[in-house]
Amino acid sequence: MKFTMDWAEYAAKAREMAAEGCVLLRNERKTLPIRPDDTVSVFGRIQLHYYKSGTGSGGRVNAPYVVNIVDGLENGGTKLNRRLLDVYTAWVKEHPFDLGVGWANEPFSQEEMPLDRALVEEAAAESDVALVILGRSSGEDRDAESVPGSWFLSEREKEMLSLVTEYFPRTAVVLNTGSIMDMSWVESTNPGAVLYVWQGGQEGGNAAADVLTGRVNPSGKLSDTIARSIEDYPSAKDFGSGERNFYTEDIYVGYRYFETFAKDKVLYPFGFGLSYTEFSAECTEFAWDNDSISIKAKASNIGETAGKTVVQAYFAAPQGALGKPARQLVSFAKTKLLLPGESETVTLRFPFSAMASYDDSGLSGHKSAWVLEAGDYALYLGQDVRSAVFCGLVSVPETRVTEQLEEALSPVLPFRRIRPGKDGEIADEAVPVRSYDLAERILCRRPEGVPCTGDRGFRFKDVKEGRVTMEDFLAQLTDEELIPITRGEGMCSPKVTPGIAGSFGGVTKELQAYGIPVAGCSDGPSGIRMDCGTMAYSLPNGTLMACSFNAPLETELYDFEGRELRINHIDSLLGPGINIHRHPLNGRNFEYFSEDPYLTGVMAGAQLAGMHHYDVTGTIKHFAANSQEKRRHFCDSVISERALREIYLKAFEMCVKDYGARLIMSSYNPVNGLWTAGSYDLNTTILRNQWGFAGMVMTDWWARMNDEGGEGSAQNTTAMVRAQNDVFMVAGDAASNSMSDNTAEGLSGGRITRGELLRNAANVCRVLCGLACSFFAEGGEDEAVEAGRPETSRGTVYEQPQTAVRPLEVGGEGQKLDISGLHTEADSLNRYRLVMPGIGAYILRMELASSLGELSQSTVTVKMNGTMIGSFTISGTGGESTVRDAKLMAFGSIENYADFYFAQSGIEVRSIEVLKDELPSFMRG
Ligand code: BGC
Repeated sequence: MKFTMDWAEYAAKAREMAAEGCVLLRNERKTLPIRPDDTVSVFGRIQLHYYKSGTGSGGRVNAPYVVNIVDGLENGGTKLNRRLLDVYTAWVKEHPFDLGVGWANEPFSQEEMPLDRALVEEAAAESDVALVILGRSSGEDRDAESVPGSWFLSEREKEMLSLVTEYFPRTAVVLNTGSIMDMSWVESTNPGAVLYVWQGGQEGGNAAADVLTGRVNPSGKLSDTIARSIEDYPSAKDFGSGERNFYTEDIYVGYRYFETFAKDKVLYPFGFGLSYTEFSAECTEFAWDNDSISIKAKASNIGETAGKTVVQAYFAAPQGALGKPARQLVSFAKTKLLLPGESETVTLRFPFSAMASYDDSGLSGHKSAWVLEAGDYALYLGQDVRSAVFCGLVSVPETRVTEQLEEALSPVLPFRRIRPGKDGEIADEAVPVRSYDLAERILCRRPEGVPCTGDRGFRFKDVKEGRVTMEDFLAQLTDEELIPITRGEGMCSPKVTPGIAGSFGGVTKELQAYGIPVAGCSDGPSGIRMDCGTMAYSLPNGTLMACSFNAPLETELYDFEGRELRINHIDSLLGPGINIHRHPLNGRNFEYFSEDPYLTGVMAGAQLAGMHHYDVTGTIKHFAANSQEKRRHFCDSVISERALREIYLKAFEMCVKDYGARLIMSSYNPVNGLWTAGSYDLNTTILRNQWGFAGMVMTDWWARMNDEGGEGSAQNTTAMVRAQNDVFMVAGDAASNSMSDNTAEGLSGGRITRGELLRNAANVCRVLCGLACSFFAEGGEDEAVEAGRPETSRGTVYEQPQTAVRPLEVGGEGQKLDISGLHTEADSLNRYRLVMPGIGAYILRMELASSLGELSQSTVTVKMNGTMIGSFTISGTGGESTVRDAKLMAFGSIENYADFYFAQSGIEVRSIEVLKDELPSFMRG
């Protein structure tokens, strides 16, 4: 495969996307855009530190630079109040950004500079507009909280806002956050404008400036409803519970709830966003036949500036026996850039089945089926859910089944869920519980498999090139050879690109002897994470991309991402994350897209489409219902089958059926009592049998599995294999079963069959057939053009803490490096000069510890003379030491430089010893 890569074009595309997702919520008193002759006073410390993303695995891209909002404004020639900027610069120097220690410990926000009245008064006298920049962070293992500084404004922020708005009628508040936050202050402080710029990746500051100055007219629309109070969200009373989370709001998530039951609690509706111009959107044609509906809509720019809008179609289904939300998004289209007076007609076409509901109770007369209940289906068209107007009606004379399925994944525990009552008030009903025997289902469907034929000379390539069937190929493998294919290796496996999260496929020499390649996967979602320090582009976050409602643009951006993956010899990004924004405080909302499953599915599919141009892909995650980070390894999501099908599984289903998804990551949490990686109904009944998925499922890193009723355990891979979650991520060494999994016992004890192993191995191999696996390809088989490295000169490059080089004359056995004052904070480098006595093999033995959580990821990378000799990720060790060895060769007495690089803080280094190792056999006499 040959392609070219223009890094500047890539950055420009990321900037375009980061601007398209900005959502303007308010613009009074002609506050925005900033005019060319305006002088701007910028308040808020985050002006100097743009949050490119949230934290955790989805935020660890080593970006070559990050453009903050002040840089962005200056790059575009905006006149800034320099005096004020100097005050902030000096203060920030004294109060540096607090990263927190290690994984999941970065504060939700940073200490704000106290403002005195005189400073604001002075600023107002010399400038025309004020920007108040507020920032928020949350992430993996760290839900946001309904406290000041997270969901709410902090006291200092409140003071800043009230002072600045007092002096500046034109105050624009700019929100650099991963997802929505409390907005009740808008009414009380009355700022001129409010703009969400989200977390836009490394080009975010440029993009924000583009929108603020009107170079780009805002066209983003909210992908979530903003309610008056955090308590108003229907999941509020269940979110954050530790053991069990009942999804009592059922399908009434986000606007489905608010538009049905609580319209007056909405501050800003789903789909809403202003522009510097105005648009009308009207239905010009409404047509339907037996299968589909088609709406032609004319969007016209009726204002004075060029801009884009999003035409959105919603439906209201008849209440029927099941009960339905007042509105559901069914289709949307973003216009091109329309000049003043210009119009565009877009066609929104969708099948009737898109309006079906899943009947998990049988009340419609069709249990376990997608049904269109008899009655009138009203269609609404507009530019947000609230203001969309009626545009047509279709009648379904008799209840119609659009797809008959079989019950799967239903809850076992009884609970009640809400539904509309007779007069539209909130009523409730019992959730149907499981009515079949799951153990029996699994048992009678399990494949027995063919006996081992031994090596018949068939190689993986023969399958890939169609000469041999997958079945004949895999039949050659013994059980012992097959078992390791259920183990992925990582983190930072030496078999794939340095510093990435995992590898899978041909992870042992036996598997490789059959020609099975190894594939590499890396976080994701918004850019490539390589913990050894390799740089990659940091892209806008999921929320932002969803708010763009611009799927074609997302495909263009992820076409670049696909090339970047290919250049780095990585086969899959661990993303997009497509869990639903069930509650605004979920720490990983920044990675995910929206409260709406249809929007999520379309945007996720658009990403996959871009990456698929280069024989690389994305791994959609986390399958499923990973709706909170608190006790994410344990908390059982108890959900009705209807809510699963209509809300939490929908985007996965769309990615599988419409966008060719090949890799899925299951989630940490159990759903309805079964940890997802061991859930047969999730991974087999629904995913494979009902949706036709032919790809591979991997676990989340060190996830658990259980047998029904039992405890979750990362060793219970028997349950995983049986469920058809194909690969456990990650073991340090697949061949030696370093995680002590129980697959072999499961097989010998008859709890799983060879047939199940063969079935899962075929899933893995089928995926490998479609991937480049270019790290594995020897002899330069990969023709991807090495197109240079990411450009580093466009924004702020943060300083890397470094120690002075320390010498060590290596002489006797077991000498220790001087580790006093070692820098282990994020992105720090320590260099040692080792003088070796002569040619020889050595081991750098590191005794490490970490007091962080058991799912934390802290990495140290060791390089010798610039070449990586090992990258090691450890999780929390509970204070115990763990030992890691980096092996090296030294030649003669030349000086050797050993570098220790820490991607993130959190590792305690207790000692580093230099030991003599055995020379490799080819060098021994
Ligand atoms: C996260 C995944 C991620 C994996 C590998 C886990 O902690 O939940 O989303 O892809 O780590 O870094």
